[in-house]
Amino acid sequence: MNESSKSLITRREFINTTTRAAAASALAGVALPHVHAAGSDLVQIALIGCGGRGSGAAVNALSSKGGPTKLVAMADVFEDRLASSYSGIKQERGDSVDVPADRKFIGFDAYKKAMDCLKPGDVAIFTTPLAFRWVNFAYAIEKNLNVFMEKPLTADGAASRRMLKLAEEATAKNLKVGVGLMSRHSRALQELAQRIQDGEIGDIILMRGYRMHGPAGSAYVTKWPGDPSELLWQIRNFHSFLWASGGCFNDFYIHIVDHLCWMKNAWPVKAQALGGKHYRTDPEGKPYVDQNFDVYSVEYTFADGARMLMDGRCMNGCNDIYSSYVHGSKGLAVASNSNDCGLPSSTFKGQNRQRSNQLWTSQVPGDQTDPYTNEWNDLMDAIRNDRPYNEAKRGVEASLVSSMGRMAAHTGQEITFEDMLNSKHEFAPGVDQFTMTSPAPVLADADGKYPAPNPGITREREY
Ligand SMILES: NC(=O)c1ccc[n+]([C@@H]2O[C@H](COP(=O)([O-])OP(=O)(O)OC[C@H]3O[C@@H](n4cnc5c(N)ncnc54)[C@H](O)[C@@H]3O)[C@@H](O)[C@H]2O)c1
Repeated sequence: MNESSKSLITRREFINTTTRAAAASALAGVALPHVHAAGSDLVQIALIGCGGRGSGAAVNALSSKGGPTKLVAMADVFEDRLASSYSGIKQERGDSVDVPADRKFIGFDAYKKAMDCLKPGDVAIFTTPLAFRWVNFAYAIEKNLNVFMEKPLTADGAASRRMLKLAEEATAKNLKVGVGLMSRHSRALQELAQRIQDGEIGDIILMRGYRMHGPAGSAYVTKWPGDPSELLWQIRNFHSFLWASGGCFNDFYIHIVDHLCWMKNAWPVKAQALGGKHYRTDPEGKPYVDQNFDVYSVEYTFADGARMLMDGRCMNGCNDIYSSYVHGSKGLAVASNSNDCGLPSSTFKGQNRQRSNQLWTSQVPGDQTDPYTNEWNDLMDAIRNDRPYNEAKRGVEASLVSSMGRMAAHTGQEITFEDMLNSKHEFAPGVDQFTMTSPAPVLADADGKYPAPNPGITREREY
């Protein structure tokens, strides 16, 4: 279940009690708007960020169970992206698509125009690169809209602090918020989490996550060709830029980091890491100019001393591993058998994965094997039955944990969760004011290279 296989274009395709109490008391005596669709009411959808995943998420939304849904508005900064997304979605779910030309919006303010087409209780999908999440989320809350937003949610401390505040506001308004960490909706991982918490493999001592394959997405780019604008080009190549995506570490590794922390039922307190860039040119010899390393190895520590290792590599010709494991005092669990959360999950007596030691292997009903479908059915069920549902705080925390691993590798320092949350380096100040002619948040030097990490030399910030 890798990322690209779940995008339409390429495919086949906690609320903490203090927050809840504070929100409740802040709203005591205030009449909350009735924003929830009854079972059979039409729920309208607006898609903001019409790329691969956005198109896939829209089809998931239009295929969700429980009642009618319709795509009514779309927004992007590139016309060609919106056009190909529209035709792809129309081809798959034609009867549920009603987006005439005057509800297709282009530009950095297009998100507002698309959300203005919705009524309270409808759903806005945010599938732009992460830099725009807090901007989009703030407007959705203002408009009383439910939200589905893709991971990661943040790449730096400033956006994380903003998003945590917005998450509380959304809960206070009883809005339903889904976050695209789809592992959480894997029925196999849900059962595994329960089994681990019931003690099936004893106390967790070590967890291991791997995502190692060839260069992927837009993580390694050569010089800006001069067109489109530097800002738009960076957006188009968002995996290369920490302000846009958190880089390949956040974008690619967050799923495994998130579901392993779920198995431990905790977030790590600190991280130390190794990383580097071995290959500095593309196969034709043109220098890479992006901000990523091609290898990361992060050791996270939990409050009880347990460790979690996350290894990421984007390199051809090496041993590819893409899976995750949990070692307990009594046994081993395979969390993701392959890719981000691939079936089956299983548990074993002792630390060797061999059939004779197997205690359990997941059996998932045929209509629930796809976590991308499950996450939409779960969200729509919460909307239609007015159940509390807000994954935003957890999504920000998973993003922060990813960022602390990345920052530890990029600076060569030990980074705590609190360091990351309180870090002062804001990657994209003023992202809410961007226009088509704004300068890019990072600018190339005379050789066309962007500021890159220098572990041990640049220690307080990543570049
Ligand atoms: N959960 C998953 O498995 C999964 C899989 C793929 C992608 N994703 C996430 O989805 C997000 C998008 O990834 P993608 O692969 O679809 O990228 P993409 O480049 O294909 O799509 C992003 C789209 O957003 C548009 N966009 C950029 N800035 C915008 C803005 N300010 N306003 C409106 N539109 C804007 C782009 O033009 C593009 O069409 C990323 O955060 C990525 O991590 C998640």
